[in-house]
Amino acid sequence: WILMTTAQTPTNIAVIKYWGKRDENLILPINDSISVTLDPEHLCTTTTVAVSPSFDRDRMWLNKKEISLSSDRYQRCLREIRSRANDFEDEKKGIKITKKDWENLHVHIDSYNNFPTAAGLASSAAGFACFVFSLARLMNVKEDLGKLSAIARQGSGSACRSLYGGFVKWNMGKNDDGSDSVAVQLADEKHWDDLVIIIAVVSSRQKETSSTTGMRETVETSKLIQHRAKDNRRLVSELHLIFLILILARVQSFRIIGCVEKWNSAEGSPQVCAILFSFDTSPQIDAGELTSINLSTKNGWRVFANAFVKTSAAAYTFDAGPNAVLIARNRKVAALLLQRLLFHFPPHPDTDLDSYVIGDKSI
Ligand code: DP6
Repeated sequence: WILMTTAQTPTNIAVIKYWGKRDENLILPINDSISVTLDPEHLCTTTTVAVSPSFDRDRMWLNKKEISLSSDRYQRCLREIRSRANDFEDEKKGIKITKKDWENLHVHIDSYNNFPTAAGLASSAAGFACFVFSLARLMNVKEDLGKLSAIARQGSGSACRSLYGGFVKWNMGKNDDGSDSVAVQLADEKHWDDLVIIIAVVSSRQKETSSTTGMRETVETSKLIQHRAKDNRRLVSELHLIFLILILARVQSFRIIGCVEKWNSAEGSPQVCAILFSFDTSPQIDAGELTSINLSTKNGWRVFANAFVKTSAAAYTFDAGPNAVLIARNRKVAALLLQRLLFHFPPHPDTDLDSYVIGDKSI
């Protein structure tokens, strides 16, 4: 017999970024972060997991190519899920698996990203969230999403936020074992239904410096990171409060994201930008490597996007990857943004427009 299940998990875009770990093994961050989970339609991972007595070892395929499951990150997630597996029975198919059986049964995992992997589009977020969620379903794990988020976090930090839709906060937590470093939903995907996130896929090349390495170097060498962590704590708690008020009042204000990006941008708080793009990290991470749009173009983006930010119609953000993210208050603004975007930053004539700009309905 073979038993299988499929799950789909979207990626998320942080409006307050996670950057730096206090524990590299358990992936515990030095600051809280808040993100928006995208609609699964455009940027998501689909994972099918199967179990059968005929499988002789755990195996995984990513985008149709077999990959190794030997890394600590995969092993930790697998171990955590297996240890929580429960009895399963399907009388019709004659399948009966006891809690104990799961320890000796092997799984096959087939995962597919419908967007470029490791190009700064948080593929590890969608990937590990889906990995954990699909395995948990297969193994009849009864934990709530908060507990599962703490497991996904051990695969990739940002993955813990992808288990929920809408606006999500990752509490950095205080405990050494990471039990309180979990994601919580601030508002669900229906709350701000009209919000549109546009991701301009400037490059689908893989990042040369991973977030993990970049963060490690920042924490080890940056003098500014401590200031950021402190400042961030204050900002997140204020924002959290504002979010709660917004949710209670069901007000759909946009200024809040504008203010987040202002804080994130060079104009608002130079140290944050310096850390994200690692000017203050040694050896210096080549900004061109992390961001294939060069900085002058990036500033071009800022000038462009700021015109919208000023009217509180839109905001923008960059992750540690080449692609620019624009957040529009509603569909009308998004259409205008898209039109202007294509005018100011025309794609190469050979570019397939669909892959240049992904218009993504979000929360
Ligand atoms: C800039 O979650 O990919 O996107 O925990 O080492 O796997 P690891 O890093 P990852 O880092 C994401 C960094 C970021 C900001 C964010 O998503 O909060």
